[in-house]
Amino acid sequence: MLGSEWMSRLASNDPKDEVMESMTGTVGLPESRPQEKARPDSAGGTEPLLKLRGVSKHFGAVQALYMVDLDLPAGQVTALCGDNGAGKSVLTKCIAGIHPPETGEMHWEGRLVHIRTPRDAAHLGIETVYQDLALADNLDIVQNMFLGRERLSGGVFLNEDDMERAAATTLASLKVTTVRSIRQPVATLSGGQRQAVAVAKAVMWNSKLVILDEPTAALGVAQTKMVQDLVRRLKDHGLAVMIISHNLNDVFAVADRIAVLYLGRMVAQDSISAFDRQNVVDYMTTGESSRSASGRRA
Ligand SMILES: Nc1ncnc2c1ncn2[C@@H]1O[C@H](COP(=O)(O)OP(=O)(O)OP(=O)(O)O)[C@@H](O)[C@H]1O
Ligand SMILES: [Mg+2]
Repeated sequence: MLGSEWMSRLASNDPKDEVMESMTGTVGLPESRPQEKARPDSAGGTEPLLKLRGVSKHFGAVQALYMVDLDLPAGQVTALCGDNGAGKSVLTKCIAGIHPPETGEMHWEGRLVHIRTPRDAAHLGIETVYQDLALADNLDIVQNMFLGRERLSGGVFLNEDDMERAAATTLASLKVTTVRSIRQPVATLSGGQRQAVAVAKAVMWNSKLVILDEPTAALGVAQTKMVQDLVRRLKDHGLAVMIISHNLNDVFAVADRIAVLYLGRMVAQDSISAFDRQNVVDYMTTGESSRSASGRRA
């Protein structure tokens, strides 16, 4: 099935939308998405899409991650917070298959997995969007979105029409309306537009987990809002999202859950209601907090 069909349904933003049930083919959200949200685990709760337990990683004498547990549930945005050098990027790279952890386990949809390469991560449906490295500057938007996965007609020629249509529909479905032409080189886009194209690419390729490393750093107010809207759209359609941000406005604007790393250890992880700005800052800067979310001393 051509991606445009589900993408236009994605654009409808209707909570009763049955799009996911009828999905087949390489492009689009997988059929099983609604069930993933409510898979019971042994404790009677829901099984996160990705679950890390006891993950450790060191570089020489530097213990970058120590016994880290992390849950990334489908249909929710988890903000990963932490000061410079806390281990956020290393944790992201463990999940993305760039730095496989030395110890610990990763469970995907309840199954033990070994993510050893970026290819393994992509195969599972994990896409990582880096602020600067995600796109090839000299290529246009369509070429970027299909890079390495180009569609052919007759087995030889690039099917430009098909790729253009799918790229345009995905961008429209995500309400990305400020791009003048999908044939313009990515180098000519603003930071927010680049981010939007990178996210749209992740959505187009059946991703189930999208990780955004500092997506709004260096973005203006309007562009930041656009990226926040995109993040909400991803979660509304059942994807798990992990967002790394130093910007607590971002975190409180989009996150359902917060996880805080301090010197490589996970020191707090809970739903957003357990936090306020002050205790997040406490956890980020000291590894602990004596306050409850309401500001009272615990
Ligand atoms: N390839 C590497 N080789 C050696 N040490 C590394 C490597 N990558 C990360 N580290 C170390 O691991 C620790 C965690 O780094 P990481 O990049 O994950 O921090 P971060 O939380 O992403 O910080 P920032 O907010 O500054 O991006 C740091 O002490 C860093 O120096
Ligand atoms: Mg980092």
